[in-house]
Amino acid sequence: MGTRGGPPDFVAIANRPSTTELSLKVFFRTSHHRMPNAIIEPAQADDLANYILSLKRT
Ligand code: HEM
Repeated sequence: MGTRGGPPDFVAIANRPSTTELSLKVFFRTSHHRMPNAIIEPAQADDLANYILSLKRT
């Protein structure tokens, strides 16, 4: 869940059951509706995926 109609926050993304390291890395490498295409290098993708996953509540 995100704020109404806006981008989901990283905590919300991290806590979706469907979010995994692989799903994040696939997402970073594809184009998205309503989201700018950032160029994320492979080394940054690791850090970014780890950071987002660190927000997962157990
Ligand atoms: C480094 C910057 C960013 C990262 C790492 C990032 C990452 C993500 C991730 C992981 C999702 C969820 C994908 C899923 O549904 O599984 C998402 C969704 C989304 N993001 Fe971002 N995002 C970034 C920047 C932005 C910015 C700057 C915007 C808007 C200006 C934005 C707008 C959205 C929207 C609207 C969604 C919801 C999905 C959709 O409507 O297509 N994001 N983002």
